[in-house]
Amino acid sequence: MIGVFDSGLGGLSVLAAIARALPQADLVYFADTAHLPYGDKDDAFIRRRVLAIGSHLIERGCGVVVVACNTATAAAVAAFRELVPELPVVGVEPGVKPAAAASRSGRIAVLATASTARSQRLATLIQLHAGAVQVDVEPCHGWATRVETLHLDDPDFAEEARLHLAPLLAAGADQIVLGCTHYAFLRPVLEPIVANRATLVDVAEAVARQCVRLAGPLANGRGRLELLATADPERLQAALPALGLSWLGSRLSDPARLALA
Ligand code: DGL
Repeated sequence: MIGVFDSGLGGLSVLAAIARALPQADLVYFADTAHLPYGDKDDAFIRRRVLAIGSHLIERGCGVVVVACNTATAAAVAAFRELVPELPVVGVEPGVKPAAAASRSGRIAVLATASTARSQRLATLIQLHAGAVQVDVEPCHGWATRVETLHLDDPDFAEEARLHLAPLLAAGADQIVLGCTHYAFLRPVLEPIVANRATLVDVAEAVARQCVRLAGPLANGRGRLELLATADPERLQAALPALGLSWLGSRLSDPARLALA
């Protein structure tokens, strides 16, 4: 089994890419819905959750674990890898490297949670891979929670997003990195704002390719999916159609369940 986890719905954008790339793999998705959002929590709290959920997924038999959350990766993937050095752990980090490589204007922007935005890991990523471009890091308070409400077409939110993006676009950013897995679901709102001035950069496909490289025999399961959540598991399952992921439902062997970790 391949385990994929996030605070809530955001990691489903990564799960979908993995499910497309590995149609026969058995997947388990864990949403820590009792503790979301992670983006405004401190690092010690996020670390505790990552270690608890990661260990839970290993106990359930996962041979690869994907931390489908930029915030959790920034705060805790190193600690988790230290705990389980022999297990392949895939983190999700903002696509700074591809964005810097693709930029023609020499300016890129990263949209992220407050926690990711202030993290040393993002600072290091920028230093290593975006030395030649200017990078604006924009914390987007409340955006992940907005995705959780599934009210994605609220005109007030579109206006808020426009206000966030306008100065970045005016400054010449031509690559806007979606540095939180929840933001992939905001594409329908964000695309018309950036229109033909900038490209939205998301790493879900790259993470899926990494899973293909690591899967080995896990690629050949029964193509099943299990959904687990620390609160409101039925809400997790019910969200699939609103997020354009009804097709994932056909891989479900059982209804989404409550899990304690
Ligand atoms: N989906 C997460 C991320 O990629 C976290 C969102 C949150 O819980 O604040 O950063």
